[in-house]
Amino acid sequence: MYSTLFITSCLAVCSAAAPIFDNVYDFSDDMAEFLGRASKHIRSTGDLPDSSLSCDPSSISLPSFASGLPAPSGQKPLYVALGRGTQNYTCATSTSESEPVAIGAVARLYNATCFAANFPDMIELLPAIAYRVSLPTREYDTLPPANLGLIGHHFFEGKTPVFNLDTTPTRQLGIAKVKKDADLDAPSSAIQGSNGAVGWLYLSATNGTIGTFKSVYRVDTAGGSPPKTCDGMPESFNVQYAANYYIYG
Ligand SMILES: *[C@@H]1O[C@H](CO)[C@@H](O)[C@H](O)[C@H]1NC(C)=O
Ligand SMILES: *[C@@H]1O[C@H](CO)[C@@H](O)[C@H](O)[C@H]1NC(C)=O
Ligand SMILES: *[C@@H]1O[C@H](CO)[C@@H](O)[C@H](O)[C@H]1NC(C)=O
Repeated sequence: MYSTLFITSCLAVCSAAAPIFDNVYDFSDDMAEFLGRASKHIRSTGDLPDSSLSCDPSSISLPSFASGLPAPSGQKPLYVALGRGTQNYTCATSTSESEPVAIGAVARLYNATCFAANFPDMIELLPAIAYRVSLPTREYDTLPPANLGLIGHHFFEGKTPVFNLDTTPTRQLGIAKVKKDADLDAPSSAIQGSNGAVGWLYLSATNGTIGTFKSVYRVDTAGGSPPKTCDGMPESFNVQYAANYYIYG
């Protein structure tokens, strides 16, 4: 028996691909790579039972490119969340005299912890795929292609980035309020979207955090950057993005 995860992944991929992906060429690159790596796992694990899909986050490690950010020394990986949403910007004028100013972000966070623990070679591909997928209309529906469940919300309170992992009255995982300590330009291989991929970040937990959170890394970014100038842009606008968030405590 193949793992339930892969059966559901593949079903989601196959059934969702046609209506969701608006460009068949976009579809083939990242999805082909994803499915190729998925089938390699299926071949190599043969008929291991589902229980082999351990959900222990302790084996999770950051992508190697994140070595350009401070290391999570003395911290333990708690969760990996696939974020999908928008980066928000404002423009003082609609001319090339002004530059877009970042004012925040809004994203849904999907539970990729077990996926990252079991498929470290595939987790990095998820944002590139999610970037081209619209968010499910219903908040608690899973996100293709790996059928990930909602684990929280990312937004800003004023200038403070917030990761709220309290989703339902029985799912209260805590709230990380963070500040940016370091950033790194996304690698050139990142999905650029219309204006480039937002940078990778090291965010450390700050005042107001509820729970044992110590830091959040934004990595594997796709899209999200604003145009270089405000030429022709409205007063405020959003840019679609996706990223993996590695949450440490
Ligand atoms: C960012 O844009 C989203 C989507 O339009 C909106 O819901 C949200 O309120 C905006 N947030 C900020 C901080 O501007
Ligand atoms: C994350 O998803 C896995 C299944 O892939 C599940 O076992 C785990 O309980 C979920 N964790 C949270 C916090 O939702
Ligand atoms: C931390 O936040 C609390 C509650 O918002 C506030 O009362 C306190 O003064 C803040 N402390 C610092 C050091 O900012």
